[in-house]
Amino acid sequence: MQTSAQPGALPSLRTENLTKMFGSRVSVDKLNLCIYPGELYALLGDNGAGKTTTIGMLTTLLAPTSGRFFICGHDGIKDGRRIRGLFGVVSQDLSVYNELTVYENLRFLAELYGLKGATVDKRIEQVIAGSSLVSRLNDRAGNLSGGMQRRLSIACAMINEPKVLFMDEPTVGLDPAARREIWTSLKDLKKLGVTILLTTHYLEEAEILADRIGIIRGGKLIVEGSVTELSERIQGMRGLSIKLKDEVSADGAEMALKLEKIKERFDILIRHDCLRNTIYLSQPEHVSVNEFLRFVFDWLESEDIPFTKFASGEPNLEDVFMAVSRGGPEVENQSLESSLEKVQGGHH
Ligand SMILES: Nc1ncnc2c1ncn2[C@@H]1O[C@H](COP(=O)(O)OP(=O)(O)OP(=O)(O)O)[C@@H](O)[C@H]1O
Ligand SMILES: [Mg+2]
Repeated sequence: MQTSAQPGALPSLRTENLTKMFGSRVSVDKLNLCIYPGELYALLGDNGAGKTTTIGMLTTLLAPTSGRFFICGHDGIKDGRRIRGLFGVVSQDLSVYNELTVYENLRFLAELYGLKGATVDKRIEQVIAGSSLVSRLNDRAGNLSGGMQRRLSIACAMINEPKVLFMDEPTVGLDPAARREIWTSLKDLKKLGVTILLTTHYLEEAEILADRIGIIRGGKLIVEGSVTELSERIQGMRGLSIKLKDEVSADGAEMALKLEKIKERFDILIRHDCLRNTIYLSQPEHVSVNEFLRFVFDWLESEDIPFTKFASGEPNLEDVFMAVSRGGPEVENQSLESSLEKVQGGHH
């Protein structure tokens, strides 16, 4: 199956210090990506992190301020015309023609790309194969559900048999069933060897679909790897989560003092997330789970901290994302800084 790096193969997409400034503000900051054939790469980041700007540059809508990029080896800046035939785009806003039928939308694009005669219908059949669009060819696009419109825009983006597909939040606003249908079509595209760069805010989506994930913050790629690699690198963040019964006062100073008592005993990462009213503790090394649990229960009792939920588990993408992409007010513990450094290690 697909693995994260294929150093032998020619990358389908490569960027070299790709940078975009709007005035004096940097939106994308020396981005270096290397994505291989058939790989699905998910770019994650908060609002304004620079995801859409990145896709804008890679699809030649925005001129980079500096840096370069290559699609299937072709220089995206010097050879813009050539690369436009190599990719498809599904943009953040829907780009189907509401007044045209499904079939007309697809035929219009096919003809725009120069397909003629019987090849048009053959190609249309291919791009909608297996989807619910098959039975809706004569319906106006404007009458389709949001999920089917999204599926149609993917079909439109595929009409030209692109090697690379850019998708900006392809499942935003869709219900779970529609989202799953899109996931299935993305998996099918992967099987055909299409390279996909998608952005998403749904960690679950990245976890299910992506071979590799990159997290950007302030236009910088701050961490990159497969879900497993990222989770392993943040192992220290995970262990226990304790949902508190009472809201902790805004400054959290009292809670910080209480947490100190755990840190006196164990060298672990502790995070108190105010928004979720939850404490996260990493499992200490060289200490049995039982011993650690007993200590934590005793601590909760002696410090008189009522809680409503107590859970332990493996690290997931949410933990990684919280640790590296935020750093906002909900993250209060110093020890997070050290975990951040750990996670970012080797990515400068
Ligand atoms: N045309 C523009 N002029 C000025 N600033 C811009 C322009 N386009 C984007 N920006 C700025 O660039 C930064 C990155 O924006 P971008 O749209 O790439 O973020 P994003 O990661 O796609 O966010 P979201 O998740 O909300 O879609 C933001 O600070 C945004 O305000
Ligand atoms: Mg965006």
